[in-house]
Amino acid sequence: MPLQIVIGAQWGDEGKGRVVDLLSERSELVARYNGGDNAGHTVTVGEHIYKLHVIPSGIIHPRTVGVMGSGMVINPQTLVEEMSMLRAAGVTLTPERLWISDAAQLITPAHRLLDRAQDAALGKGKIGTTGRGIGPAYVDKASRRGLRAGEILDEAAFSERVRAHFAEVSRLLVELYHQPALDADQLLPEYLAAAAELRPYIRRIGPLVQAALAQGQTVLAEGAQGTLLDVEQGTYPFVTSSCTTSTGVFSGLGVGVQTVERVVGVTKAFQTRVGSGPFPTELAGEAADFLRGSGANPWDEYGTTTGRPRRVGWRDLVLLRYAHEANAFTELFLTKLDVLSGLKEIPVCVAYERNGKQLATLDFSGDARLLEQCHPVYQSLPGWDADLRACRTWNDLPVAARAYVEFIEKTIGVPVRTISVSPERLAMIQRG
Ligand code: GDP
Ligand code: IMO
Ligand code: MG
Repeated sequence: MPLQIVIGAQWGDEGKGRVVDLLSERSELVARYNGGDNAGHTVTVGEHIYKLHVIPSGIIHPRTVGVMGSGMVINPQTLVEEMSMLRAAGVTLTPERLWISDAAQLITPAHRLLDRAQDAALGKGKIGTTGRGIGPAYVDKASRRGLRAGEILDEAAFSERVRAHFAEVSRLLVELYHQPALDADQLLPEYLAAAAELRPYIRRIGPLVQAALAQGQTVLAEGAQGTLLDVEQGTYPFVTSSCTTSTGVFSGLGVGVQTVERVVGVTKAFQTRVGSGPFPTELAGEAADFLRGSGANPWDEYGTTTGRPRRVGWRDLVLLRYAHEANAFTELFLTKLDVLSGLKEIPVCVAYERNGKQLATLDFSGDARLLEQCHPVYQSLPGWDADLRACRTWNDLPVAARAYVEFIEKTIGVPVRTISVSPERLAMIQRG
């Protein structure tokens, strides 16, 4: 009954989409269990670059079933757009191969407006959200007034509920945030039309996933965002509003814990972040430009969802160890090793200095204010010049690149089983 889990070990954008693409070849179900269309997962197959925001990336393989779990927040309008985009790219999407949990929460245009108004009102302290309405939708869930996907099935009652929700948010927008009132008559028809399209896809997910596992099928859980954006374990308050770590899989899909076979932590060869919040190894200037890229390559560090330039920095092993502790990774998948080619030396953060003391592990729960006080202690590893993009075996890699990988796995105590060297589907090195 194998449940396999793919988790971002950093602040998101680690390359989870390509890892899911690899593992879903041998999976029957591929399931998203958290977040919504704040995610942007890239899968590169030849000339074709798929960018998925809300549908599980594994749907690209024709034999898989894509599952959208109860832990998600789903905007029917962006989901319907993504379904059209995938169909235009030749992906078959039927109710047999896309299942939406009746317990998943719905995002509305009102949530999006509120998200933007609330983040803007924070001024300098803003989170830098993706503006997709994620936070407000999870607030409604926790305060027990959220709209659930199952409600779409009762057309008249759903329309009333959405109208009442629009009226409530409108009051907030006008009174608290001095924004224009919401025009429900304009927004409602399009929203209801998109929601109605989802009707045939809505199911009770838990029993279906449990049955698949009981039959020995492989279920792949596709994490969105990354460990350091987890609402509890992440760099709070500069986080998203869902559980992004491996523990979220169980509540987000409605399955028990006894079935986990593999927890793959995906991590880049360096560190990136979009949005605000502490980033101890962040770089500016030439080194940053080198890691980020100019934007000329599709893999350069500009957000998949928002197009924002990503903040970049050296590999932080204190935070990777922290991520391992939060997720219990059974293996690591290291992406973008190719980007480091050409550096003479590669600094790696092995500890922090805080209040005159050295810390090799975090002694607090990600708290942003405390992390701001941490200064990186670097160890420099030798770099390499060779272009890695054609490497396909461990021995193809230069000695220094192998030493870099070995340094990471020894420090964290988790094997790096796979290394990728370009976005292309097969451009990777698998180690036994
Ligand atoms: P995700 O959100 O974790 O799925 O990651 P994103 O898709 O947002 O960002 C990862 C970016 O890195 C995408 O543009 C991928 O195509 C690209 N990528 C993934 N693996 C590699 C790799 O090994 N080398 C290079 N150069 N790019 C990669
Ligand atoms: P994937 O799945 C990178 C960040 C936002 C912001 C914070 C809160 O592609 O790795 P939100 O809109 O979720 O309320 O924003 O979280 N963020 C991401 N950063 N990758 C993502 O997803 C992200 N999803 C949210 O930039 O800092
Ligand atoms: Mg992404």
